[in-house]
Parts: sequence; structure tokens; C-alpha cells
Amino acid sequence: MIKILFLLVIFSIPVSWVHADNQKVAIASAHPLATAAGFEIIAKGGNVYDAAVAVSAALAVVEPFGSGLGGGAYWLLHREKDKLDVVIDGREKAPLAADKDMYLDKNGKVIPKLSLDGALAAAIPGMPAGLVHLSEKYGRLTLADNLAPAVRYAKTGFAIGDRYLRNLKVRVDTIKQYPETARIYLNKEQNLPELYSILRQPDLADTLINIAQHGRDGFYKGEVADKLVTSVAKAGGIWTQADLDAYQVIERNPVVGNYKGIKVTSVPPSSSGGIALIETLNILAAYDLQALPKLTRKHLIVEAMRRAYHDRSLYLGDGDFISIPVERLLNMDYAAGLRSAIRFDKALSSDQLSGQIESQHQGTNTTHFSIIDQEGNRVAATLSINFIFGSAFVASGTGVVLNDEMDDFDSQPGAMNVYGLVGGIANAIAPSKRMLSSMTPTFLETDKEVAVLGTPGGSRIISMVLLAALNFAEGKGPETWVNLPRFHHQFMPDVIEYEPAALSEDEINTLKQMGHQLKEVPRPYGDMQAVLLNKHAKFLSAASDKRGEGTAQVSQ
Ligand code: GLY
Repeated sequence: MIKILFLLVIFSIPVSWVHADNQKVAIASAHPLATAAGFEIIAKGGNVYDAAVAVSAALAVVEPFGSGLGGGAYWLLHREKDKLDVVIDGREKAPLAADKDMYLDKNGKVIPKLSLDGALAAAIPGMPAGLVHLSEKYGRLTLADNLAPAVRYAKTGFAIGDRYLRNLKVRVDTIKQYPETARIYLNKEQNLPELYSILRQPDLADTLINIAQHGRDGFYKGEVADKLVTSVAKAGGIWTQADLDAYQVIERNPVVGNYKGIKVTSVPPSSSGGIALIETLNILAAYDLQALPKLTRKHLIVEAMRRAYHDRSLYLGDGDFISIPVERLLNMDYAAGLRSAIRFDKALSSDQLSGQIESQHQGTNTTHFSIIDQEGNRVAATLSINFIFGSAFVASGTGVVLNDEMDDFDSQPGAMNVYGLVGGIANAIAPSKRMLSSMTPTFLETDKEVAVLGTPGGSRIISMVLLAALNFAEGKGPETWVNLPRFHHQFMPDVIEYEPAALSEDEINTLKQMGHQLKEVPRPYGDMQAVLLNKHAKFLSAASDKRGEGTAQVSQ
């Protein structure tokens, strides 16, 4: 019965809703209820930015393992009437009391899990400030309207599915250490709840209502802020009211590239995503990839990824704290220099790339959604609390799972993090600094079409968006990009990771002979959400990665 109710909720999303000004809209998100929240707001007369607030907030409720009010996000917007392209950087910031050695023992060694689990792992959230900013500056409806679907989902609850339980299982032992988190997400016996049981989050509903009523002060000041600061301090964290007062989202200019006539618009630092994506495309731009044998094509893509991820590790961090050579990294001549050292017949081992390499971090649990209307107004948003269920710590009485985004900093130069990424001092911890991200919400645009896309996946986000962009360049549609078998190289570790369908037996053997190391990934990775507008026909399409449980729909 519960399963039937679950399916009824999931599949009864009205698709007849259109924009108030009769524009159709396409929405793809990682959860059916989040997509439904977006359409509900469109039906109320909201624009795509209102819908983006509703989808972001709904994801915070229905995917508490992936993103939420205790985390951060990047919203990449385009407004057609004035051709505005802007990124709202709602990335978390290190607390004012943070120190570069805060996760090291007295011998300078990283203390395992300190930057991953519990209150000390949590950075100051940017998501609530981002939602308020997006709604008030770009939306048509009130913040309360836009948060209403999320409030409802939190209050009345929703049936948890397989994916939710799989994620909970990964973190269940850690969650058991935090009574407030266990109280919300585990059953009375401290075990996993039943499949399709109803998850209600009344405290989270109250926090959302507070934000709906008081804007940013509903989270960063007053009752909720007190609870956050007190709980974090009690659990060994270092947040103060001054941290919450100081948090601001930043509007940034996107980074822009051009790959064979496709305008590529993506996020600048504090994410590495846009620069690494465009640099990789620049390296590949001189090859006629489609004319090359498949194996050569994959080898060249891997070699380009290797070089861009190497630069990521050397140069990228929070541009408000360090100087980043953005122009050089995005320069075509620079890319040509990197390309000139690529051999068609042989892999370059990563340790032959120059430069002092230091450690860098990246979490995997994140979410993405894409929205576009027939005019071309659009939002690509990637949202995260870092690892699955973030720090696994919920501040008492708030229902807010705090992120463990501090793990995306380099705790210790020279070491490799839990996800295998290495980085440089550019991404060392400092008070108020944003930790480097790989989130890559992106627009791809030609005279004819505009695509909006992105995915979760930690360090692999950039290579997934890259493969999708190359597929777009070949004229394929969103259904193909989101479901492509994937392969990935991130400079260190020096290995091609691949989903089974991405490489044939012959390709694997030949790549090995060329000097590549390979590792099959045990599980599929990514959860790409993409929408596409054909500008001439005003035709919309949308696709949601079959690896996930999301829904992609176009209003009719
Ligand atoms: N925490 C994942 C990222 O920012 O890329």
C-alpha cells in the first residue's frame, strides 16, 4: 500500500503547468518531488529562478544525504531580457577560528575523520543565504511561496526509497554516534528504517518556516542561529555568531570558453569546475575527435584531463584569497603548449608533470538540477553538503544536517585525500576562506541550441560534464549525455577509472600497452540532470540520469 502511495506521489506530477506568461519550462532534478516542487511554483506564476529556489529547498528535504540548508551551492543563471549571466556563489566558508593545522596531530599527521565527521568538520553554510538572495533578487514570488513545497515535504513527510536507504546505510555507523541525527534518520531501534516508510522532519520544517518569515535572519540570527552555534560548540566545533553574521553569498562572473563554436559558460573559483572544464576542452579543440579511432579519442581525452586536473591541483583555490592565473589557464595558446606534449601512442605518467604537488580534498555526495524556459531563461545549480549526510551532525532542534565541506580543503600539504585528489597550498585552510569545489553547473550554447547541465560526483564532476559537452558537440541529445558510460582521469592517482560499459576489452588492453593504468569502478557514478532548448523551434527536452531516481519533464 505504502509503495503504491509512493508511486502515486512520484508519478502524479502535473506536467500541464506552464509559465505565467505562457512559456513552457523544462526541469530535470535528482528527485521526483523536487521536480514537482519546481513545476508547482511555475504554476503559481513563478519564473525559473523562483522554481530554482523551490527545487533547491525541496532537495534539501528529500535528499538530506546530498545537499541542504547546512551546506552550499552554486547557481548559474541566465536572464534573457538583458542577457545577464551570473553565478551565485553560495559555497561554505571556513569559520573565523579555523587554522591551517586544525586537522593535524602534534606530529603534523592528519587525524583521520576529523574533517569528515562531526561538528568540527562543518564550514559556515551558504545555502540559506543563496536561497534568499536568488528569490529576492531574481524571483517574482515571495520567498515563503518558493519554500512552501519544501516545508510541506518536511512536515507531512515523504516515502523513502531505495536510493535514500543505500546512502543511509553507508553512513549508519557514523550517524549512530550523533543522537540528534539518529533520532531523525534511524528507527527507534537505531537501525535503518523500512523501505517506503515515511520520513517527517518537523524541526527542518520549522527552520524553513523561519527563513520564509525572516529571510536570511531566519537562519543566521535569532533562534535558529543560537541553536546552531550552541550545538556546534557543545560538540567540539568552532562556530560563533560572528561567523554567521559574516556569511555573504557572492555574485561572480562566470568563466566562458568556446569549443568548436559552442559557447561554454560555467562557474569560476571558488569552484575549479569551469576552469578545468574549459581548459580540457581547449586542449582537445585542435583534434578532430570524431574522425579519430575510438581508442585514440579516449586516450587523448584522458591526456587532456590529466593536464587540466594537474593545473587544478597547482593553481586553484579561493580567488578571494589567492591569485589565480585564470587568463593563462583559459588561453588557447597555453592549451596548445600542453597539447604539444601529448603523444598519440603513449601515456604520460603523471609524476612526469612538473610542479610541487600538495594534497587536496573532494567529497562525492552532491546533487544537481537544470531548468530552462522557452525564452532561454535558465538555471544550472549544483548543491552539496560534501560527503553522504555531510558531517552526520545535526544541530539540535534545527533538523539541519551540517556539511563536512572543510574536508575539501588541503588539511596537509603532500597527502592524498579520501577521494584520491591531490592539490596545492592554493587550497590550504584559512579563516573565512571558501574551500575549492569541483561543482560544474554549465551552459552550452550554439546559434541553434542551449543546454543546461551538471551532476554530482566529487572530483569526477568535471570529467562527466566534459564527456557530456563532447557528446553535445557531436549533435547528440540530453538523453545520450546523461546516460553515457563514463571514464575519468584526475592526474593523481595516475589511473583511468571507468564504468564497465565505457571501455571494451580490446580498448583496455591497448590502453595498458600505451602505459595507462586502469581501474573499473564497482558502481555507476554520477546523476546528471540536463535540459535543452532548440532556440528556433522553441522546443524543449529534458533528461535525468538513469543511474539515479530523478525526473526530467517539460510542461505541456
Ligand atoms: N564537495 C564536493 C565539491 O564541492 O566538489
